[in-house]
Amino acid sequence: MAPAEIVAQVTDSGLRGRGGAGFPTGIKWKTVLDTAGDRKYIVCNADEGDSGTFADRMIMEGDPFVLIEGMVIAGIATGARKGFVYLRSEYPHAIATMTEAVEIARKAGILGVSVLGSAHAFDMEIRTGAGAYVCGEETALLNSLEGKRGIVRAKPPLPAHKGLFNCPTVINNVISLASVPVIMDRGAAFYKDFGMGRSRGTIPIQIAGNVKHGGLYETAFGLTLGEIIDTIGGGTATGRPVKAVQVGGPLGAYFPRALFDTPFDYEAFAAKDGLIGHAGIVVFDDTADMLKQARFAMEFCAIESCGKCTPCRIGSTRGVETADKIAMGIEPEKNKALLTDLCNTMKFGSLCALGGFTPYPVMSAMNHFPDDFRPTPLVEAAE
Ligand SMILES: Cc1cc2nc3c(=O)[nH]c(=O)nc-3n(C[C@H](O)[C@H](O)[C@H](O)COP(=O)(O)O)c2cc1C
Ligand code: SF4
Repeated sequence: MAPAEIVAQVTDSGLRGRGGAGFPTGIKWKTVLDTAGDRKYIVCNADEGDSGTFADRMIMEGDPFVLIEGMVIAGIATGARKGFVYLRSEYPHAIATMTEAVEIARKAGILGVSVLGSAHAFDMEIRTGAGAYVCGEETALLNSLEGKRGIVRAKPPLPAHKGLFNCPTVINNVISLASVPVIMDRGAAFYKDFGMGRSRGTIPIQIAGNVKHGGLYETAFGLTLGEIIDTIGGGTATGRPVKAVQVGGPLGAYFPRALFDTPFDYEAFAAKDGLIGHAGIVVFDDTADMLKQARFAMEFCAIESCGKCTPCRIGSTRGVETADKIAMGIEPEKNKALLTDLCNTMKFGSLCALGGFTPYPVMSAMNHFPDDFRPTPLVEAAE
């Protein structure tokens, strides 16, 4: 197939990026295909930093060749001859398996100057990250891959225009790339047949935290949150009632049971001020303190912030302090209003989604669990 035909298949399949943002993969590939460049790159984002997620790891350890195949197809589709897998250092088994698989693919003539005897050249390398959550953000990842500090780049330019070493670059998550072989094998219509709305295909949902049957469940989009938590997950491991689930990693919103009828779909989650992200779900029982979780979101952001923009760098630290004041019962109403104001500043003023989405867990905790944000009777008495 010609590159444009491959890109059309991927576009028609409805595949959207599984790394978090849900951007249509075919459109990203088309931009790189249409951008002139002596060198182009395929970068696989295997940083998998979201809490409770392990789908990328399972693909790389269990079926490394499906990822290699997806990357080679991406290379042929866009005119890239070189690929990198940016793999987190915390995954030693995945690093070993991928490294060995690349060697085997090279010896088998799948990688190299002539992919399976064709006129296409494509080779790839495994690179190890150094343990920063922000290096999963695509532009910080590119800087890290170039040997620089993992700091976020302003967009534009998009990586598809000027990415790795300023060359047109496809950056895709492991699952996005690993989904391509089945699309090429069975056709776009086959893949598109799964799912609902604009969320097509299947998604490996990872259930973790305080849950009876944790694990990875690949299913079509469209199951409700309740079906996932209660039917598949079997409720909490402690046997206590589920209080909240955090969907989409540390930047994802907390959903109360009242929202368990939400279908697993990018748009449905966005409509409830949440996100699917990399499809990790962390379950909490009724002993969870949601004010503590809100504070944790701000603290996580403060620790992981790359420091480039003010709302995230400074706002997150002020957020921790404000949450502490609420916990101590110091002017709770005023401080709750201040925390809301701060969240809006971070949401609309941050350069990337680390600062921009930290308000989601904070605000969802505050909105859905207001009782946890009231001062304890002991503190009230002291006031
Ligand atoms: C703070 C932060 C961390 C991220 N971490 C990851 C990650 O670990 N893995 C990933 O695939 N995408 C991650 N992303 C999303 C990437 O920036 C990017 O959208 C993704 O790699 C694009 O691939 P996709 O279109 O296939 O999803 C992160 C984004 C942000 C803002
Ligand atoms: S939001 Fe945070 S992580 Fe993102 S660019 Fe700004 S300081 Fe860096």
